[in-house]
Amino acid sequence: MPSVYITNPIPEIGINLLLKKGFKVDINKSGRDLSKDGLKKVIGDYDAILTFLTDKIDANIIDYASKHLKIIANFAVGYDNVDVKAANVRGITVTNTPGVASESVAEHTFAMILALSKMLTSQDKFVRDGKYKKWDPNLFLSHQVWRQTIGIVGLGRIGTFVGQMAYGGFRMKILYYDLKKSEDFEILAEAEYASVHEICKRADIITLHVPLKEETRHLISRVELKMMKDTAILINTARGPVVDEEALIWAIREGEIAGAGLDVFEHEPEIAKELLKSEKVVLSPHTASATYETRDEMSRIAAQNIIDVLEGKEPVGLIKF
Ligand code: GLV
Repeated sequence: MPSVYITNPIPEIGINLLLKKGFKVDINKSGRDLSKDGLKKVIGDYDAILTFLTDKIDANIIDYASKHLKIIANFAVGYDNVDVKAANVRGITVTNTPGVASESVAEHTFAMILALSKMLTSQDKFVRDGKYKKWDPNLFLSHQVWRQTIGIVGLGRIGTFVGQMAYGGFRMKILYYDLKKSEDFEILAEAEYASVHEICKRADIITLHVPLKEETRHLISRVELKMMKDTAILINTARGPVVDEEALIWAIREGEIAGAGLDVFEHEPEIAKELLKSEKVVLSPHTASATYETRDEMSRIAAQNIIDVLEGKEPVGLIKF
């Protein structure tokens, strides 16, 4: 009977799929991520492991994989926590859960854009602090989001969804960057292809939707932040290290940009004190995809990836190095 180890609890839907197949399923229910030694042990004992984005499955861990291990099924869209090459070299398939988080992450992106534009967290605090004494037409004045220019960096599924919301919901002018141009998107959203630097110079809102790779690490650093308008806001719901966080803190402090919405952090779950203190940022704990709909689909697809690989079929979430 094939055995599966799940490194943290996931929604039942995926677990039930695996149990229905008659697989032996073990789950880490300790409430803590496995240690390196814990990962080495399970990778050596099971036919499949289902991992979280907080499990760092590097080449050193993969060295401990048994001959039986067929698949590392990551419970995430991103897979920068797994050394795919090291796994593939040993004949181990790596999968992700593609296409499940686009709506949720795009909604979160807009929640941050609106919260920042309307200074919502400061307004909330103002009211709670008992400072609302009299209606004042000049209080918390902000610019409309309607028809502003948004720059989408990374036009995968999530970036495309953000673009659709920006165009359909707010009639925004859309600039986008990706490795490839998309004529369909340009027609659909009246979008204009632009370099990252051009986006930084022209956009009112810059939102990041690229995977973390060597080429995208610190894609936004001091140079790019300096190019941005001092009224610009930056949204990062992708991966923390895509932004040089020290440079971002500097840019916010110096007024190089107006603010940032951050769901991910360079050293998460640690968060820089300056960010915690700043009223110019809106922060969330890597929850952009945290909807019931998305989590259930992630669970279902991660489990199906395992079933497919153990049954010798190509899984929907196959990642190739
Ligand atoms: C979340 O960050 C994911 O990659 O699914």
